[in-house]
Amino acid sequence: MPTTVLVGAQWGDEGKGKIIDVLAKDADYVVRYQGGNNAGHTVVVGSEEIILHLIPSGILHKEKICVIGNGVVIDPEALLKEMAYVEKKGISINGNLLISEQAHVIFPYHKILDKLREEHFRKTKIGTTGRGIGPCYTDKFARMGIRMADLLNRRVLKEKLETNLEEKNAIFRKVFRHPEFSFADLYARYLRYGRKIKPFLCDCTAVLNQAVAAGKRILFEGAQGTFLDIDHGTYPFVTSSNATAGGACVGSGVGPTRIGTVIGVVKAYTTRVGEGPFPTEFPPRLMDEVRRRGKEFGATTGRPRRCGWFDAVLVRQAAAVNGLDSIAVTKLDVLDHLQTLKICVAYKYRGRRYEQFPADLDALWNAKPVYEEMPGWMQSTAAVRSFDDLPPNARRYLRRLEELVRTRMQIVSIGSERNQTLFL
Ligand code: IMP
Repeated sequence: MPTTVLVGAQWGDEGKGKIIDVLAKDADYVVRYQGGNNAGHTVVVGSEEIILHLIPSGILHKEKICVIGNGVVIDPEALLKEMAYVEKKGISINGNLLISEQAHVIFPYHKILDKLREEHFRKTKIGTTGRGIGPCYTDKFARMGIRMADLLNRRVLKEKLETNLEEKNAIFRKVFRHPEFSFADLYARYLRYGRKIKPFLCDCTAVLNQAVAAGKRILFEGAQGTFLDIDHGTYPFVTSSNATAGGACVGSGVGPTRIGTVIGVVKAYTTRVGEGPFPTEFPPRLMDEVRRRGKEFGATTGRPRRCGWFDAVLVRQAAAVNGLDSIAVTKLDVLDHLQTLKICVAYKYRGRRYEQFPADLDALWNAKPVYEEMPGWMQSTAAVRSFDDLPPNARRYLRRLEELVRTRMQIVSIGSERNQTLFL
């Protein structure tokens, strides 16, 4: 089936960038459908590391059409910078990058609001990336948002921006005692951005539905992960969009009956950035070691990621919420040196055993993981090129994960290079 959705099945940073890059070679279109430049997809091509925040990783394959869907929020300044970065690497974006005219636009006041809310209301601090994502989606749902197409219409932009500034400036003045934003400056700047981005704008729903009708192969690239999803994640410690598979339909205008396969990407262990519950979080020494070996620092903010054991309760829930057909397990090599591995198979909370992910966040904060232990393989897997050549204990570990999350394993990644990918 030619349409595939690829989602993160944990808290983001599962290594989706690499898997998308590997799968993109068989796709005609690669589509981002939610989030914004809070995401950071790292792809290694030869000796070069390329980090993309907004443009789909498919751009690294010359003949692919990359689409930024209506569900994405776009900071035009960041987008133009990324377009220039990609072009500087010798990658063409003309004719193969399309941007939905319905995507919402991030303004500087969104970024400032994001930071001020985090600083001001410390008790409810989320640890956001500070990119203005939450405030931009807030405006979208409050029906005050400004969309890409509006940047091309002087009258509409003027009206919308004036209304937004009337409200935002009052908040800046009264709540945060922060300087206000000038209309004239923003208006001129965003009209300029609109002129620059205009050649890339499209009706993404029409483009993608025509592609589906023509039998083209479409790969939907999820950003963040299932437990950062606004509905299904560890709310309120989440991002403000639907990072789960359903978001692909809403965020692109392609209907659910047109989706063929859903693949979940999971790390062979667990990480998360920002605040929020994390039952299987490592103790400090192991945390430092795995973080160092796995280079677990945010691709967007550089923040150290929190690391922990693989949590099968979490991923089982992700399999249900996304309707996963299969999983891709990444960064197995990071565990190469460990003598013993633990897998969380259930939680204990107030004397009760939870095999299923608890909806009550309080239970998750206080959940004690029930672990199963497995022996490590204590040898490098980096040079392995087929699943059967993995050390027996590595295969046992992977098969146990597959069994516990009740989802077929399709891909195992053992390094950042394209050829360090094992297909089952
Ligand atoms: P926001 O998306 O900037 O509003 O941040 C909300 C939460 O999502 C914070 O905990 C961030 O660290 C987290 N987050 C956002 N984007 C990513 C990502 O791409 N990877 C991992 N965590 C992310």
